[in-house]
Amino acid sequence: MTGQLPSAEVFIATSMDGYIARPDGDILWLTSRPVPEGEDFGYATFLDGVGAMVMGRESFEKVLTFPEWPYNIPVVVLSRTPERVTVPDALKDKVRVSGRGPRAVLEEFGLRGVTRVYIDGGQTIRNFVAEGLVRRMIVTLIPVLLGQGRALWGHGAGDVNLTLVASRNWENGFVQVEYKA
Ligand SMILES: NC(=O)c1ccc[n+]([C@@H]2O[C@H](COP(=O)([O-])OP(=O)(O)OC[C@H]3O[C@@H](n4cnc5c(N)ncnc54)[C@H](OP(=O)(O)O)[C@@H]3O)[C@@H](O)[C@H]2O)c1
Repeated sequence: MTGQLPSAEVFIATSMDGYIARPDGDILWLTSRPVPEGEDFGYATFLDGVGAMVMGRESFEKVLTFPEWPYNIPVVVLSRTPERVTVPDALKDKVRVSGRGPRAVLEEFGLRGVTRVYIDGGQTIRNFVAEGLVRRMIVTLIPVLLGQGRALWGHGAGDVNLTLVASRNWENGFVQVEYKA
């Protein structure tokens, strides 16, 4: 049996200078920022129809510090040393750690009928982009310069031509661009 390769999709926020986290992984500059009441910047709409998520081990460790596990779709955590990554008992039916590469992980989801997969974490996104797997990217620019941090882009993803689907902005200064690749 062969499944269709799912569309790998990105929904992420960066500082104006392109960072997704401070060097130590801190994201308070993002999560503590005031936002208009009830505004989710299109997140729920994006998630509608997403059947699974792939995140990097670094992002997984950050999400484990949140008060609650925020995802109700199956999550695969990528690590080159999966045996060293601990999944809390309460998440064992929701989270699996894999040492397989981006395409293999997407193919597994495709065999299960998943058509859209949410990719998260800077290194992880770049690896999916480098393999030509990312079909859609929604990036929200946050009006702050961090000066240093964990970059979303760079480090050899190569030339990728993008087509603008939409741009949106909010009164609090957030600017969002949506591209297809
Ligand atoms: N601003 C936002 O919207 C946003 C969104 C998501 C995350 N973040 C933040 O970004 C930070 C994490 O991003 P990051 O770029 O540092 O790392 P990341 O992509 O979350 O995780 C990187 C790790 O994932 C594993 N990995 C990635 N690609 C792999 C592959 N092809 N095969 C096997 N393993 C692979 C490796 O784990 P091993 O080292 O175990 O091999 C690698 O070190 C966190 O601070 C998080 O809070 C921010």
